[in-house]
Amino acid sequence: MRIGVLGTGGMAAALGGAWARAGHEVFVGGRDTEAAEVLAGRIGAAGHGTTAWAAGRGEAVLLAVPAPVAPVLAREHAGALAGRTIVDCTNPLAPGPGGVMLTTAAGASVAGLIGAAAPGARVVKAFNLVHASMWEHPAAAFGVTAPAVPFCADDPRAVEHVTELITATGRSPMPAGALDRAAYLEATAAFVIGVWWAGGAPSLAFPEAPGTT
Ligand SMILES: NC(=O)c1ccc[n+]([C@@H]2O[C@H](COP(=O)([O-])OP(=O)(O)OC[C@H]3O[C@@H](n4cnc5c(N)ncnc54)[C@H](OP(=O)(O)O)[C@@H]3O)[C@@H](O)[C@H]2O)c1
Repeated sequence: MRIGVLGTGGMAAALGGAWARAGHEVFVGGRDTEAAEVLAGRIGAAGHGTTAWAAGRGEAVLLAVPAPVAPVLAREHAGALAGRTIVDCTNPLAPGPGGVMLTTAAGASVAGLIGAAAPGARVVKAFNLVHASMWEHPAAAFGVTAPAVPFCADDPRAVEHVTELITATGRSPMPAGALDRAAYLEATAAFVIGVWWAGGAPSLAFPEAPGTT
């Protein structure tokens, strides 16, 4: 698949790198085009340029930028993004009492704001729950069962694209409902980070009953 990656930071490197290693054509776009060139070289991308350039390259386009920036960038590049799948991995979080807090209004999600900003694109929320460094490990490193990647999407084509992108990393896709449930994925990130900061392991809160695996 051809994949545009907007951003040159941790998530752009981690996911763009994983997709390039899996044989996909990755196009890195940054507001700093030198940083885009460096990242493209590092991960073996097929090309690099501005965010506008990369937004017009992929069948799927990852927004790997801060959450408040993502809808702004989607609006700026709405023309180029029309007809493409936007993959939103952002977390709208800010430090708050006892951990991190959501910065979105109750019930709202960044994914929804992106959809409103680029109405011609299909949006999927995914890849926001684990730390960027996790994508450097092959799925086999996690044990017998490959980790799952929850996603929220409305459009069948977006579901196809995200399924391919998740599978390319060796993980298994976990449908988590329509895009209007993306706020729950974003809130889950706040929960998970709060538990980490408190010294806990969030995965231990979801044990399988004996005999169910
Ligand atoms: N890091 C993680 O472990 C992790 C895990 C899950 C989800 N996320 C989410 O993924 C998103 C990206 O995180 P990250 O760790 O990759 O962040 P990061 O390393 O700070 O990189 C952010 C990127 O966004 C670019 N950017 C910032 N403002 C911009 C603007 N106005 N226009 C264009 N580009 C802009 C930055 O460009 P410059 O370098 O020029 O500033 C940089 O390339 C965030 O929303 C975060 O919540 C992160």
